[in-house]
Amino acid sequence: MAFIPLSVPNMAEKEQEYVLDAVSTGWVSSVGPYVERFEKGIASYINTPNAVACQSGTAGLHLSLIALGAEAGDLIMVPTLTFIAAVNPVRYISADPVFLDCDDSLCIDPKKLRSFCEECCYIKDGALFHKDTDRRIPVLVVVHVFGNMADMPEILKIAEEFHFKVLEDATEALGTKYLEGPLNGCMAGTMGHLGVYSFNGNKIITTGGGGMVVSQNAELLQKIKYLSTQAKNDELYFIHHEIGYNYRMTNVQAAIGVAQLERLETFIATKKENYKLYKELLEDIPNISIMPVVEGVRSNYWMYSVCFENSKVRDDAIKELDKDKIQTRPVWGLIHEQNPYINNITHNLEKANFYGSRILNIPCSSGLTIDDVKTVSASMHKLQL
Ligand SMILES: Cc1ncc(COP(=O)(O)O)c(C=O)c1O
Repeated sequence: MAFIPLSVPNMAEKEQEYVLDAVSTGWVSSVGPYVERFEKGIASYINTPNAVACQSGTAGLHLSLIALGAEAGDLIMVPTLTFIAAVNPVRYISADPVFLDCDDSLCIDPKKLRSFCEECCYIKDGALFHKDTDRRIPVLVVVHVFGNMADMPEILKIAEEFHFKVLEDATEALGTKYLEGPLNGCMAGTMGHLGVYSFNGNKIITTGGGGMVVSQNAELLQKIKYLSTQAKNDELYFIHHEIGYNYRMTNVQAAIGVAQLERLETFIATKKENYKLYKELLEDIPNISIMPVVEGVRSNYWMYSVCFENSKVRDDAIKELDKDKIQTRPVWGLIHEQNPYINNITHNLEKANFYGSRILNIPCSSGLTIDDVKTVSASMHKLQL
């Protein structure tokens, strides 16, 4: 039996052609036509005026916190059920996270967000502060987990009411969009003040490593570009008024990105078909369920998550599937339980604990074949659940 990986890049001729073009023209570093082409391509795909390409999603999140005015000593609201890269940038700026719970979409639960703001915070001079510590809370980082959509209409309402900014970590959700409701047509990443995508190797499209910051606000994006290119106030004489970063994407990475973006919709179509097939084939296995897509949303179907009855059967399943050369991965360890964050504030965490011990992700690459899906499903039917 051949190895079936969890999620691997899908490269073809176009990627090779554009990379070769970038290399042969000598434009291999952070200036070159593919960078702008990739930015314009993403902006047009998600319907924003512009986009700023950077080295990684993590770099994009770091710059976004700075551009949104978050400062040392602030508290930043974040989910605990996420990849740690969504939270670490909070510490890069010497702020601290406050960990919030998820709902059944695995994304931040707006009810818990509201109860935190109502019960644990107060508003002073148009800003939100934490009652117990009097620390300011200027930003919420909302993650669209595994390509599912967080409840943005509700979250944006709460943000307005309680005076904080919304940073969308859409690193996993490029292509996810509302199909109905007040935000009909809006893409994940475009509804908050800033949004960030990742093009890391396991993402729906990849540039090897890379990220993109997007916004409807041109001024904020200008600031992101300025910070990502060493904060040059004068390009000729090298005058700098602020601390900047070397976070710009290279032209070679962007060349891969341009080719990948051309194929994104076909990737999503394949992933959707494979999700439907998994759902059909796994339906009659007792005690497991494949996690649903939020209603009224076109997901990008980045990851397929299966919920097991408890952590023991899930962890046994990982080992059994591994024997059949099938790579799976449990959902991340909760961030508030990780060493650097064990003393940070948490608010009423329940579902994150529940899902954190039960979710397993199964192979989902855009190159996964129908036969692969059948093989994984057959192997899952053999599990003792
Ligand atoms: C939720 C989340 N946030 C942030 C990141 C960071 O993106 P990158 O790996 O491009 O730095 C990732 C992916 O790696 C992610 O899954």
